[in-house]
Amino acid sequence: MIIIDHLTKVYKLNKKQMVEMKTKKNMKVAVEDLSLTAEKGKIYGLLGPNGAGKTTALRCVATLLKPTNGSITVCGHDIEKEPEAVRSAIGFLTNEIKLDPQFSPKYMFYFFGQLHGMTEAQITERKNVLFSHFGIDEFQDKKISELSTGMKQKAAIAVSLVHDPEVIIFDEPTNGLDIVTARGVTDYLKKLRDDGKVIIISTHIMTEAEKLCDTIGIIINGKKVAEGTLAELLEQNNCNDLEDTFFKLYQEQNTEGIA
Ligand SMILES: Nc1ncnc2c1ncn2[C@@H]1O[C@H](COP(=O)(O)OP(=O)(O)OP(=O)(O)O)[C@@H](O)[C@H]1O
Ligand SMILES: [Mg+2]
Repeated sequence: MIIIDHLTKVYKLNKKQMVEMKTKKNMKVAVEDLSLTAEKGKIYGLLGPNGAGKTTALRCVATLLKPTNGSITVCGHDIEKEPEAVRSAIGFLTNEIKLDPQFSPKYMFYFFGQLHGMTEAQITERKNVLFSHFGIDEFQDKKISELSTGMKQKAAIAVSLVHDPEVIIFDEPTNGLDIVTARGVTDYLKKLRDDGKVIIISTHIMTEAEKLCDTIGIIINGKKVAEGTLAELLEQNNCNDLEDTFFKLYQEQNTEGIA
């Protein structure tokens, strides 16, 4: 289980960032008082527009960022007190950390497997399963820089799952993929869910949230503004589809911001 308890993350901005963001404030509240629980055997989807705070929240869960306030536990381990235990329990994928382009998928897979303390035989066994599932076998010795966007993403996913983690944290896993490749990824996430893993993903794709996620948390301007199953969200907001629900909540948020 992942429990995020009143997470707030504030970035300190340097002068260049203040100019870029057209602000006079030297602070940016990226995530504000966010609480949620992601359970075993379920896919939790964090749905939000650009800049909503999805990556920031997931990076805090993955121990890559220190929360400004609040706490997070992953499988009972506190991310600040037991970061190593958290890191060995999670598979983390983000579009901001790329595999090193000069190495091959196979090299990266063995490298990360060894980092997780696996034996060569264990890594090979996992490679056989994951590379064949994602169709990476024939590309395994090519340089990552020579692979297509889809193949790079699939290689990154395979590498993130080398140690068969209990908890899967995927930031926009189908970003930039065509529908066939994206379907391969979402089908695999469903399989992992059915295997009893804890899964949290972020997305801004409505259909992905609708079709894939058991629970959807809508995040706008760093705050969770709604949460529930698809059916619950539609009922709470008296809407027929998720896009209408999203826009309703988005407009409410932004009118509040102006008022
Ligand atoms: N390192 C940083 N320093 C300062 N501000 C940052 C930093 N990283 C993110 N931000 C700001 O924090 C806010 C949340 O960013 P974040 O990347 O978490 O959003 P996101 O929901 O993942 O967006 P996207 O859909 O574009 O990936 C944005 O306003 C962003 O500009
Ligand atoms: Mg992001």
